[in-house]
Amino acid sequence: MTEDTGRSPGRRRILGAAALGTAALGLTGAAAAPAGAAERGERDRGHLRELPRPAIIAHRGASGYRPEHTLGAYRLALDMGADVIEQDLVPTRDGHLVCRHENDISGTTDVAARPEFASRRTAKTVDGTRITGWFTEDFTLAELKTLRAKERIPGNRPRNTLYDGRWTVPTFEEVLRWAEKEGRRRGRPVWLHAETKHPTYFRGLGLGLEEPLARLLRRYGRDRHDSPVFLQSFEPGSMRRMARLVSSPRVVLLDAAGTRPWDFVEAGDPRTVDDLIAPDGLKWIASFAQGIGPTLNLVIPRGADGALGRPTTLVRDAHRAGLILHPYTLRNENSFLPADFRRDYPGVPGEDANEYGDVLGAYRRYFDTGIDGIFTDHPDTGLLAAADFRDRRPAGGV
Ligand code: G3P
Ligand code: CA
Repeated sequence: MTEDTGRSPGRRRILGAAALGTAALGLTGAAAAPAGAAERGERDRGHLRELPRPAIIAHRGASGYRPEHTLGAYRLALDMGADVIEQDLVPTRDGHLVCRHENDISGTTDVAARPEFASRRTAKTVDGTRITGWFTEDFTLAELKTLRAKERIPGNRPRNTLYDGRWTVPTFEEVLRWAEKEGRRRGRPVWLHAETKHPTYFRGLGLGLEEPLARLLRRYGRDRHDSPVFLQSFEPGSMRRMARLVSSPRVVLLDAAGTRPWDFVEAGDPRTVDDLIAPDGLKWIASFAQGIGPTLNLVIPRGADGALGRPTTLVRDAHRAGLILHPYTLRNENSFLPADFRRDYPGVPGEDANEYGDVLGAYRRYFDTGIDGIFTDHPDTGLLAAADFRDRRPAGGV
């Protein structure tokens, strides 16, 4: 499905072959020339400016329309014109990186209906939370590949269940190959945004994520400072480790104010998200990353009534520290929107949680803050909003 997003082709700068990220072009493993911190910062920001701004990042693919983290969801996002496509990464028992939001695959695959895996159901504590289910680290890749993906939130998105069972769980290597092929076919790089999930937990199991991720990035030519990829993690330690392995751009994700990254908890580091978004914290992040991915509430908090309040100074402060911002996650449905952007429908008694609210209005508020990109489950809507914003024209356009 392709939709006119109202953006003229000329707005998107076409990158040269060096940014196509293709192993076939012989770009694998080439380390950047040594450079000072300031020089490096400018060089990296220059590369990131090649993306449209604000960039629309397809959260788990076009997950508003297809079961998340499937090739179907990624393909649809690319066809819609998403600027960047996100993967969350967890390992299998034999060390392959697969695309799932969490290692518990009960909610996003048909594993519960597979008698041959019934005995694998177990309880584990992941990052301090007790979870009962089926876990990727207990399956070999061959076993995992027998499962079929399904819609995570069928209550919210019943239509997406049409596609249950259609796709398998993709490996990150399959995604890299697909992106390389599509990049060549379309004559422009397919940008990815890959997150290491629960990196401290997996390292404790002998399944460290960063080394296999770095190997894949090198193999597919996405290990350079100017590669079309972002790496991201809620654990700053994971991004620091990645910085020692590859030069690809890195983003530190930030959860709600007051929370602590899990690697800080494990290491006894008392800093919270509040410390990380203070000027010194941002300066520290900028010493090993190019951006932050804050929850949207850190950019514009919601009041007690659920409505958007006044923007914080985070965008200004992060930019001053030389960091870009990719906040998460905007979705079209009323149930996910700030209260002041929910909509009633004529003839529908009360607010319908699964219907779309005034998400274009919400985009305007967030874009007005100066963010550099945004994660969304509905990239087509996000692209329209971004085009409206860039052209400074009313939503709906001409
Ligand atoms: O990675 C950005 C955003 O996806 C973070 O939230 O929980 O959906 O991975 P989550
Ligand atoms: Ca993510």
